[in-house]
Amino acid sequence: MADAPACARIEEKVFADQSPWSEQSFRDEINQKATRFLALRLANAEDLQSAGIKLPGDLEPGQLVGFAGIAQRGRANEIPDYEILTIAVDPRVQGAGWGRLLLSALLEGTEAGAVFLEVRQGNEPAINLYKTCGFEVVGVRRGYYQPQGADAIVMRRLPVAAS
Ligand SMILES: CC(C)(COP(=O)(O)OP(=O)(O)OC[C@H]1O[C@@H](n2cnc3c(N)ncnc32)[C@H](O)[C@@H]1OP(=O)(O)O)[C@@H](O)C(=O)NCCC(=O)NCCS
Repeated sequence: MADAPACARIEEKVFADQSPWSEQSFRDEINQKATRFLALRLANAEDLQSAGIKLPGDLEPGQLVGFAGIAQRGRANEIPDYEILTIAVDPRVQGAGWGRLLLSALLEGTEAGAVFLEVRQGNEPAINLYKTCGFEVVGVRRGYYQPQGADAIVMRRLPVAAS
């Protein structure tokens, strides 16, 4: 919950023109019973130093640089469906594998159910990430993102067979 302001700051950067969630939206979603959120943060100063890593000037040790959230849907006693609510990585550290790491951690424990998500048409980095994690396109929601009216691609990952 204490990360809600930092999540909203990243959200402002990556969804500036797409109705970004506010701090309060993050609090409300984190507070829902059936949601789970993950935070991605840089290592602390001591660990960075012992690994010999020097951060670029505008990044702080321990800083939140990404987040992801998922909701469980469906009735009790039934195999649930899941819906990915959000995932984002700070633009300063995108393209380094953190988005994939966040998504795979978010999907842990969801193997028995189908997982759905909506993604803005044309958001190729996200669509590519989802496709390489087992999601396929199952539909389009016309005008889903308001007020801009952009279409959403609906993607689904089917239950993963037990090995
Ligand atoms: C989508 C997002 C979370 C990916 O995070 P990331 O840390 O940059 O991604 P990764 O470095 O882990 O890359 C994972 C895969 O995503 C895809 N990808 C990432 N950046 C890409 C780009 N610029 N162009 C095309 N595909 C890209 C690739 O498939 C990549 O796999 P590869 O490295 O094996 O080719 C990030 O781009 C982001 O925060 N975007 C803004 C928020 C957003 O659109 N969220 C999704 C809402 S549905």
